Amino acid sequence: MAVSEAVRGQLEGASWIRRMFEEGIRLTAEHGAENVFDLSLGNPLLEPPQEFRDRLLELARDEAPNTHRYMPNPGFPEVRAAVAKSLARESGVALDGGDIIMTNGASSSLNTILRALLDPGDEVVILTPFFVEYVYYISHNNGVHKLVGFKDGFMPDMDDLEAKISPRTKAVMMNSPNNPTGVIYPESVVAEIGKRIGDAEDRFGTEIALITDEPYRKLIYTDESYPFVFKHHPRTIVASSHSKDLGLAGERIGYIAINPDYPDKGEMMEAMVFSLRTLGFVNAPALMQRLVAGLQDVTVDVSEYRKKRDFIYDALTDIGYDVVKPGGAFYLFPKSPLEDDVEFVRTLQEKMVLVVPGSGFGGPGYFRLSFSVPDRVLEGSLNGFREALAEVRAQ
Ligand SMILES: Cc1ncc(COP(=O)(O)O)c(C=O)c1O
Repeated sequence: MAVSEAVRGQLEGASWIRRMFEEGIRLTAEHGAENVFDLSLGNPLLEPPQEFRDRLLELARDEAPNTHRYMPNPGFPEVRAAVAKSLARESGVALDGGDIIMTNGASSSLNTILRALLDPGDEVVILTPFFVEYVYYISHNNGVHKLVGFKDGFMPDMDDLEAKISPRTKAVMMNSPNNPTGVIYPESVVAEIGKRIGDAEDRFGTEIALITDEPYRKLIYTDESYPFVFKHHPRTIVASSHSKDLGLAGERIGYIAINPDYPDKGEMMEAMVFSLRTLGFVNAPALMQRLVAGLQDVTVDVSEYRKKRDFIYDALTDIGYDVVKPGGAFYLFPKSPLEDDVEFVRTLQEKMVLVVPGSGFGGPGYFRLSFSVPDRVLEGSLNGFREALAEVRAQ
């Protein structure tokens, strides 16, 4: 049975990921799992907090009727209100339950937003380095993507952002804390992004949404508060998730938050709710909604991730790698000592260390590692990192 040309092309484009995955399986089978140090996957390591388990048991015993049936597509009103209340406190913006749609995680949030915004051929501008799935989300929803380059410290190249926005641009997508770099865009950068988008709207007489993907917003290792986008552009929509902050990636629960000042907010909300439903998500899982409603101010123990970040950042810097210290998320994006990052990733594989080439994230010349792994894996990888760098330098 012939599959779609589009999906076949996407599968071929992503085949290097599959090859790397297969190589990891081969190495593990050949050398034993304890001798292979896999830093390639962004799977949250920390288990959900105790409050999650307590609440789960409570809900299991709860015999209240009508809790497992269809519901209003944007979610239980009391859950939306609880999310809004917490987010309003965190951001200082007056959100209410009507500004929230419960979803099946950030990927469902992003697909829902894009579906509501895009007509065939509409453009979405992505700030790089970026989470590679965005490209597929955009094309599945009839759009075309444009990539914006980065400057020092992985900050967006603002002139390139301006150049990439055209009369067909419907949205700009950003992700902070960022996968793959772990960088948090400071307030000044967020403000400048908003300004450049606003200027482009005036120039072209168009409307451009700023979509901000924030699944790592609560995994932050700096003392500064998180710079929210709401006040920097009226057409802002947050895509978020509890995959990482509560360690619930397999449970598929997250939300969309729209700026209360979004022009034509009612129409946009209606379009997103319709899209959530007709994309086949229908509504976020009922049990998970009720669960996370009471956990909005709870997170996994972030200090555990911070310890891992400090360990691997210090170790790689000591060995001689050029690394930007991540302020959040659980990734490092070191510079590849070889110009060809794919080749350097192969060199690391020969030393039993698995990481991902930066080219796959719009960051050629870098590689991504995840420190969301047991300490044993982080410690065990250092030898390979040391040997690979020495080998390249000796060439
Ligand atoms: C930047 C980014 N956005 C979205 C997602 C998808 O997250 P979710 O599990 O909430 O769908 C991920 C998952 O790794 C991610 O890294």
